[in-house]
Order: sequence, then C-alpha cells, then structure tokens
Amino acid sequence: LRVIACEKDLTGKKVLVTAGPTREALDPVRYISNHSTGKMGYSLAKMAMLRGAEVTLVTGPVNLEPPRFVNTVPVHSAEEMYEAVMSRATEQDAMIMAAAVADYRPKNVASEKIKKMEGDAAIPLERTKDILASAGANRRENQFLCGFSMETENMLENSRKKLIKKNVDMIVANNLRQEGAGFGTDTNIVTLIQRNTEEALPQMSKDDVAMRILDIIARSLK
Ligand code: CTP
Ligand code: CA
Repeated sequence: LRVIACEKDLTGKKVLVTAGPTREALDPVRYISNHSTGKMGYSLAKMAMLRGAEVTLVTGPVNLEPPRFVNTVPVHSAEEMYEAVMSRATEQDAMIMAAAVADYRPKNVASEKIKKMEGDAAIPLERTKDILASAGANRRENQFLCGFSMETENMLENSRKKLIKKNVDMIVANNLRQEGAGFGTDTNIVTLIQRNTEEALPQMSKDDVAMRILDIIARSLK
C-alpha cells in the first residue's frame, strides 16, 4: 500500500544510509561491538527506495533481510565502513548515518586466539575514524547530511553540539532512557534537530520516523 501511497519525491536522488553496529576484532574469535540491530537504518533505506531514490545501504552485521532494490554493501569494522562510505560520498545527494559505529577498537589485533592468564587484564584501545565528521568536513555543495545521536542524559544539548561540530544539517536525537525507543524496538521516540529548529516527534514506528526524516531531506533537495 505504501508503494502506491507515497510520493516519488526522491526520484533521481542518490541517498546513502549507514546501519547496524560495527565489530572491532580483538583476535580471530572475539570482538567489541554494541546492541544496534540496524532496524532504523534499514527502514530509512527501504523508504528512500520507495520514494524513488537510488539507495546505497552500508551495513554492519545484522539479522535483517537486505531491502529489495537497494545496493547493499556489507562491512564489519568502523574502518571498513569508513572506506565504503567515503569512496561513495561525493556522488551522494544525501547521507544518513544511522549506524552505531564503535568509537574505539583494540590497538592490537592478535593473529591467534588470546589465552587466559592469571589475574586481571586490560585491552589497549585506540579511536576509530568518525565517518559522519569526515563527511561533514568534505561535503559537497547541496549535499544533505543527517546523523543520529544516542544519549542517556542532556540529549538536546549534546545533540546540538554534534550538529555543529560535525558540520551536518540534521541530528536525529534518541533518548535511550525512554521506553519505546532505541535498540531493537520497532518504535522510536526522536527529536529532529536542525540549525534553527527542533521538532519532538511522538512515539512512532521506525518506518514512520524514516518517512519524517525523508520529508525534510526531500524538501531540502528540491
Ligand atoms: N558516527 C560515525 N562514525 C563514528 C562515530 C559516530 O559516523 N566513528 C556517527 C553515528 O553514525 C551517528 C553520529 O555520528 O550518526 C553520532 O554518533 P554518537 O555515538 O551519538 O556520537 P559520538 O560523536 O560518537 O559521541 P559519543 O558517542 O561520545 O556521544
Ligand atoms: Ca559514539
């Protein structure tokens, strides 16, 4: 029904979406990751496709069917996601970073399984590249950049800081403390933060949240 009902207002536009978690290897059997299921990013990719866009979905490991008629690029680590996004960035009219990218990775990746030893242990970590910030620093004219923000406190203030610091057009802010929002749920409660506006949406399905985000992007790309 949605296919018939929705306006094809992204026809001719290229939209790249990132989704899911990244996995940062420690050794051949272990990794650091997070609880992202990829649902929000997959909803965005599907809805952008239904609205006529040529969609690329760069996705970390998730248990979801790749959306039909979407160019799906599977990756594992933050570094792979960075390469997959940045190598395609200049041709995109819009990029929406819904992935939960690991901020740190193990400094050394052991080639053999690490054996346990007596006593405590520590893992040296190093920062990964910030994909959204790199996209913001290298954006082309008239390219719409949208990020997400996961916060457990000071949601609006922290999200607005990310909007400015990463040089993007919109941040979709989630409060993880709210029921019906965040990881694994089919619904979300978000606030859409742009330079001069702020819109708090009620609880709605991730498909509907995706449509509201794409409304703003489609209007801005016209
Ligand atoms: N992001 C990214 N690359 C990273 C880290 C984050 O592209 N290495 C993107 C996410 O996809 C999201 C946005 O940046 O769209 C904000 O992610 P978030 O984790 O909320 O913010 P951080 O800037 O990583 O700050 P912190 O985790 O310290 O709150
Ligand atoms: Ca982060």
